[in-house]
Amino acid sequence: MTASPATPPAAAAAPAPVPYSDWSARFEDWTEDLVEVFREVAESDEFILKSRVERLEAEVARRTGAAHAVAVAGGTGALTVTLAALGIGPGDEVVTPAFSFVSTASTVALRGATPVFADVEYDTAMLDVAATEAAVTDRTRALLPAYLFTESPRMGAFAALAARRGLHLVEDSAVALGAEVDGLPAGRHGTAGVYSFFPAKPAGGIGDAGMIVTDDAELARVARMLRNHGQPAGKRFHHELLGFNCRMDELTAGFLLRKLPHLDRLHARRREIAEVYEEGLRPLAPVVLPPPAGFAGRSVYTYVVRAQERDALRAHLAAEGIGTTVYYPRPLHLQPAFAHLGHGPGDFPVAERLCREALALPLHPDMAPGAPERVVAAVRRFCTAGR
Ligand SMILES: Cc1ncc(COP(=O)(O)O)c(C=O)c1O
Repeated sequence: MTASPATPPAAAAAPAPVPYSDWSARFEDWTEDLVEVFREVAESDEFILKSRVERLEAEVARRTGAAHAVAVAGGTGALTVTLAALGIGPGDEVVTPAFSFVSTASTVALRGATPVFADVEYDTAMLDVAATEAAVTDRTRALLPAYLFTESPRMGAFAALAARRGLHLVEDSAVALGAEVDGLPAGRHGTAGVYSFFPAKPAGGIGDAGMIVTDDAELARVARMLRNHGQPAGKRFHHELLGFNCRMDELTAGFLLRKLPHLDRLHARRREIAEVYEEGLRPLAPVVLPPPAGFAGRSVYTYVVRAQERDALRAHLAAEGIGTTVYYPRPLHLQPAFAHLGHGPGDFPVAERLCREALALPLHPDMAPGAPERVVAAVRRFCTAGR
């Protein structure tokens, strides 16, 4: 009698994929709120720049300690309106990072002013203070550093530089509502700061929306006109200035009023995930370099590591079912849209290097338990596989 073959062990279930972002998970907890907000707004006869928007402005002003908060249609709109309200235009220069989201520089160029790029720090990817100072000329009107990923620019140093050189400091804190840096909320170090409520942001809403914060009453007054076709409050069809249609709607404001009370909790979860990455990935240097440690007070938006073999790491993670994103594949000075500035490869070497090396790992407050640890294990396997 021949022995019957041993029963093969059941194939282990493939681990669940870890998507880079998971929109259905993001909104799962908010479905009821969304439905209620839509009903409230539909029954209210208020659609744009009305009572919910005013309450949201008051809430953001309270949270950040700003004297004025001006709701607009997006983070890009917030930059545009701020720069316009400051009267920045042709002949003016604004120093801004070569490595950022396009709005940091496109909003300057669209005012007819010149974005003057400066390089960023390799460790933090933030605008370099010394490079910024070197880029200041007698045409410079403002400094415009940007918060990205988990990092904050050295705002204390930028505020001191702006004061010393008599410049405006505008903070592109689009991703950083809720962060603190150098003892102040992000967005509160200079003339004005901006926030974005784009859904992916830590304070994300249900569409495009943004906010300007400032202590400057005149800047706020002009910004309020500029966001609404240049009309002063209560003077419909009177156009004091050439303005924009850059207004926040009541649906978004109503939703954000429900979400902002949870922002600290959502930030705390983001920081928890960043700490799992930090602990697991730190020993993998120099193959994979995590961002600087210590997340207290930071707004953790995306967790971006640097790796010389970035594309191979990305392919390895994809093969293990883990989604990643590249922020940013091309620095601003080499984008066709800024060709008129005449830059070439090598002009901002750190920005260019980050474009080759930076890789964002999945990080959102709705990640499944164990998913960050799974990402760490997959990155570890990459680092130990024949390296
Ligand atoms: C650094 C930075 N600035 C500005 C913006 C623009 O914000 P919005 O998408 O709300 O226009 C973004 C959005 O991605 C950003 O990341």
